[in-house]
Amino acid sequence: MKALVLSGGAGTRLRPFSHSMPKQLIPIANRPVLEHVLDKVRELGVSEVGVIVGDRSAQIVAAIGDGSRLGLKVTYIHQDEPRGLAHCVVLAREFLGDDDFVMYLGDNMLPDGVTDIAREFTQERPAAQVVVHKVADPRSFGVAELDRDGRIERLVEKPAEPRSDLALIGVYFFTPAIHEAVGAISPSARGELEITDAVQWLVTQGAQVTASEYSGYWKDTGRVDDVLECNSKLLEGVVSSVQGEVDAASELIGPVVVDKGARVLASRIVGPVIVGAGTTVEHSRIGPNTSIGVDCVLRHTSIGSSIVLEGAQVTGVQGLHGSLIGRMACVGEAEGPAPHHRLVVGDHTRIEVAA
Ligand code: TTP
Repeated sequence: MKALVLSGGAGTRLRPFSHSMPKQLIPIANRPVLEHVLDKVRELGVSEVGVIVGDRSAQIVAAIGDGSRLGLKVTYIHQDEPRGLAHCVVLAREFLGDDDFVMYLGDNMLPDGVTDIAREFTQERPAAQVVVHKVADPRSFGVAELDRDGRIERLVEKPAEPRSDLALIGVYFFTPAIHEAVGAISPSARGELEITDAVQWLVTQGAQVTASEYSGYWKDTGRVDDVLECNSKLLEGVVSSVQGEVDAASELIGPVVVDKGARVLASRIVGPVIVGAGTTVEHSRIGPNTSIGVDCVLRHTSIGSSIVLEGAQVTGVQGLHGSLIGRMACVGEAEGPAPHHRLVVGDHTRIEVAA
């Protein structure tokens, strides 16, 4: 089996970050989402991975390279514009050949893994096997209506009145039968080749299409709040490790990672927290549920339930919560005599301040 990992897309819901980086490189517990995804792909016993990349391909190639660091052989496939998930299958035709494959959305986190579902697929080999997850409000998802044997009777995209609470999530298993399906469908009203349409085409043709329920933790990291929630979830697994420097005036409580070359001075850190390599934390309170990237500086600051990306500086700011601070961003006290706020804010940025 091969894998096709989708790492193009527009990422409009993750602006402003997606203006300057592919959303699949947003760090969760200080590792890009895409690395977490590729780990899960490797766990399936897959080694050949096609990665669909869009106009931010250079950053993805710089981060993942040929995949050997992750025990994989990665082939990049360029998509000129986000033309839909099924379009990605069309583009990957040559790479996929006549092999079965798992298609995995590069921004979807399923930390509990899908090895059991993959095994089922390999044994039964239905034309397609989708992964579904019970959601409270299925109206914004593709929804699977199943018969008693778990075969799909119908897929409905964003139903106003859902007849099932099983949403399609970002992992699909396909035999080469999918290639005829993606060739047979037309773009949807939003102009994309939809994978739900291709799978529905198979159902209509009478092909065997099954659904398997994933009941573990699942998160589509498409929005800032999802990224933060997923970060908290993954930090639950953090095991304390101090490779950097923590001075005698500092206190570490609970699981805290202080990476190599990081310095924690006169600060209190309440885990789970990761402090990335080369970062300085001074006279600050950090945590819980917070990841600080590499080479950051935090001084006279308190921050919790947040992510700070590499190279950012936060100085003299109290009460930061639920924040995502971008690479090399500076957040600090205003200089000058009168108290004031000064904002230099990029496109599509969101700032919320206490009244
Ligand atoms: P989505 O999150 O559905 O789409 P998007 O990236 O355009 O995001 P937004 O809605 O915020 O604008 O995409 C799911 C995954 O598939 C994601 O990793 C991006 C990837 N993708 C492609 O690689 N090519 C595509 O044509 C599309 C639509 C998505």
